[in-house]
Amino acid sequence: MEAKTVIQLENLTKRYGRQAAVSNLNLEVKEGEIFGFLGPNGAGKTTTMLMILGLTEPTSGKVRVFDLNPTREGMKVKQMIGYLPENVGFYDDMDARGNLRYIARLNGIPDNISDGRIESLLNDMDLAKEADKKVGGYSKGMKQRLGIAEVLLKEPKIAFLDEPTIGLDPDGTNKMLDLIRSLSRERKMTIFFSSHLLDQVQRISDRVGIMIAGNLVAAGPLAELAERGLGLKEGESYTLEEIYMKYFKEA
Ligand SMILES: Nc1ncnc2c1ncn2[C@@H]1O[C@H](COP(=O)(O)OP(=O)(O)O)[C@@H](O)[C@H]1O
Ligand SMILES: [Mg+2]
Repeated sequence: MEAKTVIQLENLTKRYGRQAAVSNLNLEVKEGEIFGFLGPNGAGKTTTMLMILGLTEPTSGKVRVFDLNPTREGMKVKQMIGYLPENVGFYDDMDARGNLRYIARLNGIPDNISDGRIESLLNDMDLAKEADKKVGGYSKGMKQRLGIAEVLLKEPKIAFLDEPTIGLDPDGTNKMLDLIRSLSRERKMTIFFSSHLLDQVQRISDRVGIMIAGNLVAAGPLAELAERGLGLKEGESYTLEEIYMKYFKEA
């Protein structure tokens, strides 16, 4: 059975003054997939996510999330999606539990429901032992895991993670990538995540999109991009770096 389309972008464009941060973007993301949004800094990844989330209005073009328009039906869309921003902020003077409780209340989740979720998320994110410590003293990796817990609190159907591994050490990075993979496979969540790091996207994505200077220059399963872009045959090896350079030169 063909998977359902959960995100649909048509000719999506965002201009800041004369500069186009995103130009005529056409893209579909299917239910349950891990979509890796790849591109160098300034490519338009964050801007694209903000438009999908309904947090910034497109200059032109169309966004649909579960067939809803995030600009007009923001509340409904926000109930179904979670978002980890690039620089996630917490209340440093509160502990992990306090932060999660606060976010749950902001999202209208009653305490009797959030209580259980918070405890199980603290366990899942490996934060249970530190849950009573002030978040101000957390490492970057712990803060990122708390950020993921925050995203999962409302049990979203799609999680948007903007550069979720930025600032993490190699061990923290691997753990985060494994975690993203398990969210997709065990919770059947659709994941849309961005990164400027090729090997990370390669490791966990079902499909990737390559953004360069506001243009989506390629999208599809990596193996397909390799065949098309590099003229490789099935089974021949490639690195994402090679694919990236190939499309980068053509953009
Ligand atoms: N609020 C804004 N005002 C003006 N220019 C912006 C704004 N947000 C992003 N841009 C510009 O749009 C382009 C894309 O930025 P961004 O989406 O943040 O890229 P990425 O997330 O891929 O690094 C960049 O040139 C950036 O400077
Ligand atoms: Mg960004």
